[in-house]
Amino acid sequence: MSYKKDFPIFKNNRKMVYLDSAATSQKPQVVIDAVNDFFSKYNSNVHRGIYTLSEKAEELYEGTRKKVAGLINAGGASEIIFTGNATEAINLAAFGYFKKFLKKDDIVVLSEMEHHSNVVPWLMLKKSLGIKIYYLPVNEDYRLDHLRLMEQKINFSKVKLISLTHASNVLGTVNPLEEIIPSLKKECTNAKILIDAAQSIPHIPVNVKKMNCDFLAFSSHKMFGPSGVGVLYARQELLEMTDPLFYGGHMIANVDKEKARFLPAPAKFEAGTGKLEGVAGLGAAIDYLNTRDIKVIQKYEHGLTKYTLSRLPKIKNVQLYGSRNFLNRLPVFSFNIGAIHPHDVSEILNRHGVCVRAGHHCAQVLMDACQTAGTVRASLSIYNTKDDVDKLITSIEDVKNVFRLTD
Ligand SMILES: Cc1ncc(COP(=O)(O)O)c(C=O)c1O
Repeated sequence: MSYKKDFPIFKNNRKMVYLDSAATSQKPQVVIDAVNDFFSKYNSNVHRGIYTLSEKAEELYEGTRKKVAGLINAGGASEIIFTGNATEAINLAAFGYFKKFLKKDDIVVLSEMEHHSNVVPWLMLKKSLGIKIYYLPVNEDYRLDHLRLMEQKINFSKVKLISLTHASNVLGTVNPLEEIIPSLKKECTNAKILIDAAQSIPHIPVNVKKMNCDFLAFSSHKMFGPSGVGVLYARQELLEMTDPLFYGGHMIANVDKEKARFLPAPAKFEAGTGKLEGVAGLGAAIDYLNTRDIKVIQKYEHGLTKYTLSRLPKIKNVQLYGSRNFLNRLPVFSFNIGAIHPHDVSEILNRHGVCVRAGHHCAQVLMDACQTAGTVRASLSIYNTKDDVDKLITSIEDVKNVFRLTD
């Protein structure tokens, strides 16, 4: 199966080996066409346009909402809120819902492998409300040790939120949420569940019903769609209790000089004109994922992961931060080479056309747990091949030569 041909960037950059998909994915031609088509065929504002062109634009916009609901098995399109990205989606849950209901000494459970966007909003609420945060630790195999929560001497009824990433943007670990959530919920009966699916959604099935979650967040740009669009899913009754972050046009049922009444979700949360062309592109990205079949994608990527794990950690002086078991894992590989600074590694890999990311990956809690300031991260997607992995490996050998790191 060759996915690469679907992505025109590779025709225009024939020697490039793109290994930075955890930061943002490349876009298939069908997504580029959908954005282009929006501007060249349907461009007009949605909502309240009583003419054919605007109705068509609205059809695309609301059609994508239905596609998102289908993709994650939500109860309906009204449970899908378009935001700017996953970060904004988590902020909407944090400041629109949890800020209203959390009280001093309530406990929020996170994990050590969260991206900053699922740490910092809760730190802000800790500061303003006096809540407590407990971080589930990462074990020696770079997986969550969720049962450690049960050993804590805490009042479990005070745990009001468990907010976890589905997959780590650094370790590649996929958290077995279908096992973790029910196990934690046995004790933490008052806890709502928020899942950060930013990394998992282009790689593995995401099903809000199976996860039994209350909120779920992700970004379009990591799942082959355009940037500038994110999604917050929340159960309908929770959305009714959630306040918007932004106020203004489109969200309104009625306004007079003294007061405003809002429309129900999703409109209540989407003040102003949305990212219309981006949403059209997200719709095409979902169609692409559906035609390619996420289960087939998952199998292909398992092969890539297995192959990379058979080579990368075997290189002398390479320290891999991530499980060596290819199951329950994404093709995301964080590593260091001896004491060489990750930025230097990245710079030399770039000379070979290999694009990786270097630094703390917005996961400094995890960096502390791994006792490192940063790593090099090679993150693969469907358009990568074993040849790309080979190129990474030979380029790493060159990094070692440049720094005279002898075996
Ligand atoms: C696990 C995870 N959550 C959230 C985000 C934030 O996504 P965005 O920057 O699109 O808001 C990222 C981005 O890398 C991520 O990897």
